[in-house]
Amino acid sequence: MSQESQTFEFSPENLQRCQDYLKRYPTKQAAMLPVLHVAQEQNGFVSQAVEEAVAEVLEVPSVEVHKVVTFYTLFHRHPVGRHQIRLCTNVACWLRGSDCIRHHLEEKLGVGSGGTTSDGKITWEAISDCLGACEDAPMMQLDKDYYDKLTPEKVDQILEKHTA
Ligand code: FES
Repeated sequence: MSQESQTFEFSPENLQRCQDYLKRYPTKQAAMLPVLHVAQEQNGFVSQAVEEAVAEVLEVPSVEVHKVVTFYTLFHRHPVGRHQIRLCTNVACWLRGSDCIRHHLEEKLGVGSGGTTSDGKITWEAISDCLGACEDAPMMQLDKDYYDKLTPEKVDQILEKHTA
């Protein structure tokens, strides 16, 4: 996890990755999402300094970057834990028990939605956006992977196996 920083500069490797993305899109601005992902991967979250660095690469006003960052829940605006959980609470997941999973996560992790465990290991949040796996509700995303048909017991097993 990166500390809140006033400055940000792409590493040479990541700047090259951004340049590669720019070549694949019709306009520089169209490459905003992948470039933001590279920046977040390097910094851990998208600070104002990161937004400005992304704006410079894309040659757009930083307010354009800020609008995108604040629209998508995929971008973190503050430091987060080494692992991130997003629990879907949209209709299908809610009807099939996401409230129960939500309470279980709160109890197990000792912190409410949007918070980070005291050891800095896990940040989790209950989100209202459907994650597109309704047929297997209730479900959550842990880092890049989806876990479905959740029960409290299954959540415990997942956390033990993938966040130890
Ligand atoms: Fe949860 Fe669609 S409602 S994945």
